[in-house]
Amino acid sequence: MNLSKCKIINLPKITDRKGNLTFIEENRHIPFEIKRVYYLYDVPGGETRGGHAHKRLQQFIIAASGSFDVIFDDGFERKRFHLNRSYYGLYVAPMIWRELNNFSSGSVCLVLASDFYDEDDYIRDYETFKKMAKGNEKKF
Ligand code: TYD
Repeated sequence: MNLSKCKIINLPKITDRKGNLTFIEENRHIPFEIKRVYYLYDVPGGETRGGHAHKRLQQFIIAASGSFDVIFDDGFERKRFHLNRSYYGLYVAPMIWRELNNFSSGSVCLVLASDFYDEDDYIRDYETFKKMAKGNEKKF
């Protein structure tokens, strides 16, 4: 099941009394090459982001600042993750419906993605997603 591929990865953390540093190297700390980086910020309290799945895209989500929740759904089960450390990353496999909520004030959600922005890769309707997820499963 796709949900079991999604997990929190503990990133390297160089601690220093002058401040901490975390780094990410493609194909080492995350299992793909990074083609795009984007970030969500100034998210109003109580707001939900996401609400879609990707057919092929892999992503890696980091709470660069603050905290928020990420809810994953592979069409069969749901799982909630709480990101609240800058050295945690959450790997998102393809075909995962995701929602992000519970953003703390001033939080920054940094996302590394395996490909350029492509609206054709999005599945924005939940019922369509569920049908596709169940259809994929039958192939195996
Ligand atoms: P979307 O992925 O739906 O946002 P979220 O999942 O955070 O709620 O993207 C919101 C809008 O921004 C949508 O119109 C597409 C656009 N967008 C880009 O143009 N490039 C990008 O890299 C991303 C992620 C979104």
